[in-house]
Amino acid sequence: MLEWLAVTSLAYPPPLHDGVVRLRPWRDTDLSCVEQASQDPRIPQGTTVPAHYTTEAGLTYIARQHARLTSGQGVALAITHQHTDQAIGHINLIARPQQGVAGIGYWIVPDARRQGIASRAISLTTTWGLSPGNFARIEAWVEPDNHASQRALEINGYLQEGRLRSFLTFGTRRADVLVYSRITADTQR
Ligand SMILES: CC(C)(COP(=O)(O)OP(=O)(O)OC[C@H]1O[C@@H](n2cnc3c(N)ncnc32)[C@H](O)[C@@H]1OP(=O)(O)O)[C@@H](O)C(=O)NCCC(=O)NCCS
Repeated sequence: MLEWLAVTSLAYPPPLHDGVVRLRPWRDTDLSCVEQASQDPRIPQGTTVPAHYTTEAGLTYIARQHARLTSGQGVALAITHQHTDQAIGHINLIARPQQGVAGIGYWIVPDARRQGIASRAISLTTTWGLSPGNFARIEAWVEPDNHASQRALEINGYLQEGRLRSFLTFGTRRADVLVYSRITADTQR
């Protein structure tokens, strides 16, 4: 049987780092990262980061990231500066209903942007996510005006497959999304 047909036991990955960025499980001491994210206009719209930050809401956000694993939904990790261990963002792989398919999601706090952090985190996550026993396909849904996110995916070999019209809702706003993916066959090329 092909290994990727089933993700049998979700677990946090082995240490993922590249000398600059390290991905690790969220900790309660990462609250200031969640607080910074809550102040960004875009992040709370498209994620469960609280729009109105309180310590309780921040801790609930962090608990929710661990619950993704225990509930079998997927894996959510903090993106940190490898040398300081300071959390500066978030990345997740969430299982889609289709067997062997995961959606990738990520955000970086405003002060840490444009330093290649998202690109590095996507690279580490994608390599692990497409490794044997994990997923066969990782896809991203990106708004057409989110050029930074599209670029970070393209740098990592994701291909744009098309546009889904009026696909997501952000509050009362409906949005088109561009679909990007990488599959295990891309990795083997
Ligand atoms: C999208 C996001 C994750 C990018 O994070 P980042 O760490 O700044 O991205 P990187 O530094 O790795 O940059 C990736 C590429 O995008 C480019 N880029 C970064 N910001 C950009 C911007 N505002 N406009 C256009 N290109 C941009 C970079 O130059 C780089 O391309 P290059 O290597 O060819 O120069 C970050 O802006 C963010 O958190 N946005 C809000 C949440 C979000 O949109 N999440 C993704 C949802 S699909």
